[in-house]
Amino acid sequence: MTGTPLNIVAFCCEHCAYAAADLAGGLRMQYPPDVRIVQLPCTGRLDVLTVLQAFDEGVDGVMAAGCLPGNCHFLEGNLNARRRVTRIQGLLGEIGLEPGRVEMFNMSAAMAAEFVTAVTEMTERINEMGPSPLRVGGAGRGGD
Ligand code: FES
Repeated sequence: MTGTPLNIVAFCCEHCAYAAADLAGGLRMQYPPDVRIVQLPCTGRLDVLTVLQAFDEGVDGVMAAGCLPGNCHFLEGNLNARRRVTRIQGLLGEIGLEPGRVEMFNMSAAMAAEFVTAVTEMTERINEMGPSPLRVGGAGRGGD
């Protein structure tokens, strides 16, 4: 644990993870406050450049959370998102960042506990890695 406040962005599909986050809030479930949620109509809308730009602007981690396999409202949006996340992990490795700074999760709208677990797991993982060197070094445009 670094103790440094983290900046993690969660790109959440409105049909599942966003609703699960909303349910978790309604149930007063606690989860780390380091995650900012960005609502998407489907994780299939998540593109590689957006995520790389987020890292360039100084985020410490990115999570994508989409519908369960077979349940995407746009058929294969979540599968495309998973492929893109894998590609981004490779690109992060190539530029010297830990590939684990980005991860894909799948859940349904009813899975509030799983959302909390995913956010907690991601926060603990990024905490272990520490803040992004792009942020620490001030190389990111949004860096400190
Ligand atoms: Fe939820 Fe596609 S509609 S991931």
